Formats: sequence, structure tokens, C-alpha cells
Amino acid sequence: RITRLTDYTPPAYAIDSVHLRFDLDPAKTRVHSRMAVRRVAGAAESAALVLDGEDITLLTLKVNGEFVAFRQETDKLVLDKLPEAFTLEIETLNVPQANTQLAGLYMSGGAFFTQCEAEGFRRITYWPDRPDVMSRFHVTLRADKAAYPVLLSNGNLVSHTDLDGGRHEAVWDDPFPKPCYLFALVAGNLVCREQTVRAASGKTHLLQVYVRAGDLDKTEHAMESLIKSIAWDEQRFGLSLDLDRFMIVAVSDFNMGAMENKGLNIFNTKYVLANPATATDADYDGIESVVGHEYFHNWTGNRITCRDWFQLSLKEGLTVFRDQEFSQDLAAAAGGESARAVKRIEDVRVLRTAQFSEDAGPMAHPVRPEQYQAIDNFYTATVYEKGAEVVRMMQTLVGRAGFRKGMDLYFQRFDGQAVTCDDFAQAMADANPQSPLAQHLVAFKRWYSQAGTPHLHASGSLDPASRTYTLTLRQTLPDTPGQSDKQPQVIPVAMGLLGPDGAALPLWLDGQDKGSDTVLVLTETEQTFTFGNIDAAAVTPSLLRRFSAPVILDYAYPDADLLHLLAHDADPFNRWEAAQRLTLARVLAAVRGDELQLDPAYLDALRAVLRDPKLDPAFKELLLTPPGESYIAEQLDEVDPPRIHRARQALRTALAHELADDWQALWDSLTPQGGYSPDFASAGRRALRNLAQAHLCELGQTSWLGRVYQRVKDADNMTDRFAALAALVQVGAELAKPALERFAAQFAGEALVMDKWFALQASSPDHDGRQLDRVRALMQHPAFSLQNPNRARSVLFAYCQANPGAFHRADGAGYAFWAEQVQALDAINPQVAARLARALDRWRKLAPVYRDAAQQALRSVADSAMLSSDTREIIERALAN
Ligand code: ARG
Ligand code: ZN
Repeated sequence: RITRLTDYTPPAYAIDSVHLRFDLDPAKTRVHSRMAVRRVAGAAESAALVLDGEDITLLTLKVNGEFVAFRQETDKLVLDKLPEAFTLEIETLNVPQANTQLAGLYMSGGAFFTQCEAEGFRRITYWPDRPDVMSRFHVTLRADKAAYPVLLSNGNLVSHTDLDGGRHEAVWDDPFPKPCYLFALVAGNLVCREQTVRAASGKTHLLQVYVRAGDLDKTEHAMESLIKSIAWDEQRFGLSLDLDRFMIVAVSDFNMGAMENKGLNIFNTKYVLANPATATDADYDGIESVVGHEYFHNWTGNRITCRDWFQLSLKEGLTVFRDQEFSQDLAAAAGGESARAVKRIEDVRVLRTAQFSEDAGPMAHPVRPEQYQAIDNFYTATVYEKGAEVVRMMQTLVGRAGFRKGMDLYFQRFDGQAVTCDDFAQAMADANPQSPLAQHLVAFKRWYSQAGTPHLHASGSLDPASRTYTLTLRQTLPDTPGQSDKQPQVIPVAMGLLGPDGAALPLWLDGQDKGSDTVLVLTETEQTFTFGNIDAAAVTPSLLRRFSAPVILDYAYPDADLLHLLAHDADPFNRWEAAQRLTLARVLAAVRGDELQLDPAYLDALRAVLRDPKLDPAFKELLLTPPGESYIAEQLDEVDPPRIHRARQALRTALAHELADDWQALWDSLTPQGGYSPDFASAGRRALRNLAQAHLCELGQTSWLGRVYQRVKDADNMTDRFAALAALVQVGAELAKPALERFAAQFAGEALVMDKWFALQASSPDHDGRQLDRVRALMQHPAFSLQNPNRARSVLFAYCQANPGAFHRADGAGYAFWAEQVQALDAINPQVAARLARALDRWRKLAPVYRDAAQQALRSVADSAMLSSDTREIIERALAN
């Protein structure tokens, strides 16, 4: 069944308030719901009330205390002939212990949790499960006190009392009306770290982070991140916490990262738990940004929510943008503007790897999709990351201060409502009437409705006679499934010009002095910009600085220009980008069959970066890391993944040898200063030092490998310990085996560390053609489980998605394995299975030997009789496009 944006109709009935009562029991939980229902103004008297329900048993249904007739359709209840206002009472039965989908009410580690976004609430009780029905929730939880001492729900705790028979009861009241997808409950044996904070408003708030008993020593960073998030949102957007109490709960069985339930955020343990012994610098960063993300949803998502799920990016794109800005501001406060650039590069790397490939494949969809079978399939890089870029472009077009004005107007207009992406863009434009956003709003909004990654073609010419430099920009947008003949979008192009000495040239445009860095706004298919007063003998354009738009820049940069930008550009993003382009060109030549050639100019440029004392170690590490295998694959018309792997590997080996002295010097000079701290500067030093270590391993010297093995044993933090382990595994060293065994013995009790251990092995290069056997062996490990999403991902995704060089095999064995696992997982957890299904999204690009086998595997899954609509949607789209 397909749901379409054009079919949207407002709800006929509102539920102003609801009293929910849960009698919690793993085998039979009774849910009693008493709703105050009212027909909305303008709805027909004959309008039916439609309630969604899935995998639950209806026990009773009463209208104003009386049993009434109703129609039961698949996953729906329909009530006709209703009074204008009435009380609706429904009782249902849930079986939480049988809920392996982890949507609705389920159990994890002996405790109860819920996940309702997008359509999980219907798995708890019958309800109009759509975000534009907003209600006041009053919740009573009852459970056995010994087994479930902690009972939590949204909002404020009203009372907590003991009941007969060893049971107890907690009553919670959420003062803010909300859609049901923001409902949550938690019941179990948990402990918490808590702290009261005084906000800028003067109000005090109780902050709590709930975890299992042994994990309290891993909650400090999450708590600190929450406190920083609260301060940042007040300071940057004037938005303060609107509840007396704010809770975060960690759960080890969770389908995604985290969930912004009002006042009761529920998180994957991966994004809460950290201490130096178990978490890496990347984990610390992930926690900071996800804690921020969920907290920021309180305003962008909860106070103002989505009218329907097609508007998902209204909250997700905006909130990703906000969490990116949060992390950038924190980094800049610690490490200055170059630290901000490091964060930007990391985000762009994710966008270009995950989103650009999505936009080029069978799942391509606009930021505001137009149809879906399973909405859970549209929690995508396009809705999240491209959506964030669309918001970022708005900020670029109206300026930081203008963006703040737009946000203020957005809250003034829509607080407490369920609205659309159009509403947001309109508020931004109305708050900035003179801006290019307001002037070109219709064209700008095509970013929401047109799928595909635009190509920005640029060409420039210098005319010494007229002392001008002319830049021509042209945009094209490829066809995507179901969409062709697209219209031009609004593309902000931040740029500058460099002279032959590397200095910035002044930008004179239309008789105006634009300084040394400006934003050109492309609004037509093609436009020309002429810069005056150019006296330089040669000009190198630095285009799309800071990656000012999510486009593919097609400009035929000669190597000399790239080397020039790498050495001199004032924009760190474009320095990094120049290095990426230089490296990419060399890897692509090797993929095409030429021998890998590393020319002296290129190597000297890299050396100069490594030796530059003014550059951040974190920036150097990014600059020296070549583009990933899937990004390389996207640059090719026909893909041979093992070949790409070999070419990239050849580059690493060559860089290891050519820059050996520099790697050694870095290793020696970047020795840790003091104990572990996850701060920006220390993390950057570790990252660069560990990159040096990995390259030195490529040289294969026994004594060095022995030293690295020693680090697996002795490192005082997980970042360094794991980097050492990974370096040994990556080169296939003999010592990898004992190192892995040691590591597993040491961390057997730490689930998140064991996830890393599984993932490292599943994603390791296929040194001997037996990698698939090793992956199967990992699945036989007593600690492996298909039920736990983190663990399943740590093996299956690490192999099928993160290890293209080993997964794609001419004999198709990798694909057969994939088909088998997609089906096994689908029977347990359709949402996770549908994610794994996407590993073959780009099958049409594969070289023929792989392509035929991949198609066969896709067909075998499509032919399976029992397939969830989640997985079926992905497979059908892949086969159709
Ligand atoms: N709203 C959550 C977040 O981004 C994610 C919910 C994902 N839900 C899903 N069914 N995939 O913070
Ligand atoms: Zn979100």
C-alpha cells in the first residue's frame, strides 16, 4: 500500500487529552486508554473516526461508557455515527516479550521500553497514529516493584505509590500537547546520574541519565553534553528547556541512534555510554552530537512538529543542522576556526558518501518525499543530511543574524502546531524580505521537491586587456526514478580568487568591493559573473568554499591549480578538497589500469602539509586520508569493487613508503601529553598519530609490528588500543590473531566494545579469499546475536556495506549470504532488515560479473513469500530502477 503526499487530508477528530494506564507484564500488558475526543470545526457530521492498530488484541471499546458498533479492517478500527464530543475508552493487550521488531512496547535486558516514531504507537493501543493529532498525555504505570523499581514517562512525576501484591504505581503528566510518536515509557531496574542545573532564565531543572547498574561510570560525558546543549540553545537561539525534568535513558536493543520523546529521550547505549577505557574519540563525538540532536528536537520537532511524515525533514533536516552547528561552535571554542572546518569536513564526508550515492540510486527521493510504502525507509541521508544542507543554504542566503530572525518568526507563528516544510521556508523568507532567499523562494524550494544531486559546471577566463575575470556557472540536475526535466534551483556559491603568489585577489563585482570572499547566488540554469580590477597574471578560483551547497562541482582544475589551492587557499575546506581531488585522480587512474603514479609535486605538497606547524593535527589527518571506496565507486560508470580496494590499498602502501620519514617523525613528536582527555586538540593528535602508526605498519617491519601489539596490551585508552588493533588487522599481521584474542578476553563483558571487535573483523580486507568464511564464523561466536541490532550491524553491515572489496565476489557468494541474512533478519526486525537490504542499492553500476549475481540475489529475496513491506519496498525499488 502506497501513501501519497497529495492524499493528505486533515483529521476529522481531535483528541484533546488522554489518560493511559499500563499494567506492565512481559507476557500480557494491559493498556487502558481514555480519550477526550472532539469533531474538529469544519468536519462533516458523518465523518468517521479512524484508529490505527497493529499486532495488538482489542479487549474493550466504549463510547461515553457504552459498547458501540465499529468496523475492523486490516490494522484499522473505524467508528461511524459519532457525537460531536465524547469519551472513547479502549483496552488492549500487548505481548512485550514477543516484540522483536523493537517498535511499540518491547523488552530489553528485562526492562520495558517504547519506540513510537514513526508508527509504533499503534502497536500499543488503537489511535489515529499521525503527527497532526496532538494531545495532552496523562500516564499511569503499574508494575512489580522488585523487578521494575523505576517507572518513567513523559513530563512531570505527579505521584508514586505502593500497591498491593508487591506492585507499585507512578503517575506522569506531560503539560505539552504532543503527537503520539513522542510518547514514551520506561520501566526497569535502572540507576541514574543526576544533576540540577540553573538555566539562563533562572529556572532550575533536574537532569537525569538512566543506565543499567554497572554503567554509571560511563555517563559523565552524556551529562556534560546535555548541559552544553541546554546552554547552547539558549545562547544561540534563545530557546530554553520548558520542563522541570529532562531524562535520558540508555537501552542496548534499539533500532537506530536515539529518540526525542518529550522529556524522556531514549538512546541506543552507543550514544550514551563512554569512559576512556571503553570508548574512542569518535564515540565521544557521536555522543555529544546525538545528545545535542535529541535535545534540540525539543523545540524543532516537539514544540513544532510535522503535519505528516512527508514533512519529516522539517524536524530532521533542521535538527541535524542545529546539532552540526552545536558541534562546530564547541569545536571552534576549543580550537578556533580551523576546528570548525574540521567538523564541516567530517559532515561533508558523510553527506557525499551516504547521500550522494542515495541520490544517484534506486532509492533517490526528494528531501520532502512524495510517496512511501514504509515510512521507516525514509529516515534517510537525504531527509537528514541533505535536509540539513538545505537549511544551511538558507542560513548562507540570509546570514547568521537573519537566520535567527527567521527562527524567531517560525516559533512565533507555529509554536504548538504540526506544520510543513513550506511553513518553515516561508517564515525564513518573511523574516528576511530583502534576502536572495525571499527573492527566489519558489526556485529555492525546489530543493525540497526535486531529487538528485545537482552538477555545478564552472569555467573561468582571464582577460588582461579589460582586467577582468569572468566566471560562468551552469547547473544541471539528473533524472531520478519518477522525475525528469527538472527546473533550476538556487545555489549559493561561496568563493574567492587567488593570484599567482597565493594571495587573495580583491573581488570587484558590479562595481562593488566584495572583499576577498563572497557568495554568488546562481538562480538560473546559467549565469556569468565578471570580476573587475584584476591585475594578476593568472587566477585560480576557489569555488564552493565551506561546501556552500550540496552539489557536485565540475570544474576542470589542472593539477597545478589544485596544488596552488592546497598550499594557499584561505578556506581550509577547499585546501582539504584540493588534496582529495589530487588523491582521487591518482586512485582513479590506478583503478582504470594504469600503474599507480605518485609524482614528486603531489608528494611534496603532502609533505608540506604534514610538516606545517600551523596546521591542526586533526586537519592533517583528514587531508592525508584518501576518499573511501564507496566514494571512489560513485565517480565511475562501471564498478569493480575489489579493484577499487586494490587501487586504494596501493595508494596507502605507496604513501607509507614515500612519506616514511614523516610518518616516523609524526609518531615521535605526537606523544601523548598527560592522561586521556577527549578534547578537540588531544583527539586530533591521537588521530594523526594513529594514522602515522597505520602507515608504518604497511612497511611490515617485525619490530614495529611488535610495538603496535604492545600498544594493544598497554594503551591507557580505547582510542589508541583499538587503533593499534585495527592497524594489525588491516595489514593482516600474524600478531593480529593473538591481539584479537587478548582484546576479546579483556572486554568480553563490554557489549559496545565487543561490537567494535566484531565490526573490525567483518570489515577487514580479504587477504586470502576466505573473508566470507570468517564472517560466517563470527556469526557462530557465542556472543553473536541477530536479535540485537548493534550486534547484527557489527557483523552484517560491516561486511555487506562497509567492506565492498570483500563483499563483492565474482562467484556471488557475498550476495547469496546477503540474501540469506536479509530474510533471516526480516522475520525478526523488518526495520533493520530493510537497512541491510540497501547494501545492494547500487547493483546496476557493478561490472557484469557482479551485476548478474547481484540481480539474482535481489530476485531471490523478492520471491520470498514472507517479506515485510519495509524490505519489499527496498527490493522492489532496486529491481525496478
Ligand atoms: N527521530 C529520531 C531522531 O532522528 C529517529 C527516529 C527514527 N525512527 C525510525 N523509525 N527510523 O532523532
Ligand atoms: Zn532527529
